[in-house]
Amino acid sequence: MATSVKMNTGALMPALGLGTWQSPPGKVKDAVMLAIDAGYRHFDCAYVYQNEQEVGEGIHQKIQEGVVKRENVFVVSKAGDTLIPLDENGHAIRSNTNILETWEGMEELMDAGMVKAIGISNFNHAQMEAILNKPGLKYKPATNQFECHPYLTQVKLVEYCQSKGIPVTAYSPLGSPDRPWAKPEDPSLLDDPRIKKIASKYKKTSAQVLLRFQIQRNLIVIPKSVTPERIKENFQIFDFKLTQDEMDTILSFNRNWRGCDMEMCRNQKDYPFATEF
Ligand SMILES: NC(=O)c1ccc[n+]([C@@H]2O[C@H](COP(=O)([O-])OP(=O)(O)OC[C@H]3O[C@@H](n4cnc5c(N)ncnc54)[C@H](OP(=O)(O)O)[C@@H]3O)[C@@H](O)[C@H]2O)c1
Repeated sequence: MATSVKMNTGALMPALGLGTWQSPPGKVKDAVMLAIDAGYRHFDCAYVYQNEQEVGEGIHQKIQEGVVKRENVFVVSKAGDTLIPLDENGHAIRSNTNILETWEGMEELMDAGMVKAIGISNFNHAQMEAILNKPGLKYKPATNQFECHPYLTQVKLVEYCQSKGIPVTAYSPLGSPDRPWAKPEDPSLLDDPRIKKIASKYKKTSAQVLLRFQIQRNLIVIPKSVTPERIKENFQIFDFKLTQDEMDTILSFNRNWRGCDMEMCRNQKDYPFATEF
């Protein structure tokens, strides 16, 4: 049985979702349908992934087949109607948007009934404080989605979010091995012998241990796959439990390594990662 995390809206967010960044059109519809058959009820999407139409078609087909009802499918999207526009040096063109004004726009979506919850992504601690201390704040963020795995455990940011009643969604939980800017010398979570050793004790895979680790921290976790066997494998994480010692050991693997450091956005005034947490 999959678990859920309660949001401050009162709604439940399924703790395991399917990521869809880089899930190619032509494959993602089948991946979504297979995931629904396997038990997934949460899909992490974004306009910039350029495949939302197909994700929607997969969900729609499963609703037509009577496998799920729309109200039981949790669909996350991310605001923005342009891809990241770059200048001739490959840097993002500077944006003058203001996160507090953007948040007010998000609140309007809630009031208009267009969304059931609003959240934030890649916000650091100071940016979260700015939202939470905003005069006239109507809705607290329902989640903060950021990169999190054993090489970037984000202990302080997770603690901060949880102290404010804001659930965390952990992205790139497997270390995002297919990120386009990966270098051969980068560390590989899935190949880490220390993770493999723990996995073999439970007759599980490294991926399953990496996902279970986040579930036991009460995080929501959104691994991406378009491979049928892996989609199923990644859902089989609710039948074993890591010991406290193993949790502590995995936490000690932190090396503040980011797979998605959004280097091309480093010149932006709101670049979030140039701070401790
Ligand atoms: N908000 C943001 O800024 C942000 C940024 C990054 C990611 N995200 C979200 O988080 C999701 C997950 O992060 P991610 O896509 O960066 O990386 P990830 O989920 O850590 O890793 C995905 C990669 O791992 C492979 N994989 C999946 N399951 C596996 C398994 N059981 N064994 C071995 N390999 C496996 C996938 O291959 P195949 O697909 O070929 O099977 C794919 O190459 C994204 O898809 C997206 O929805 C959000």
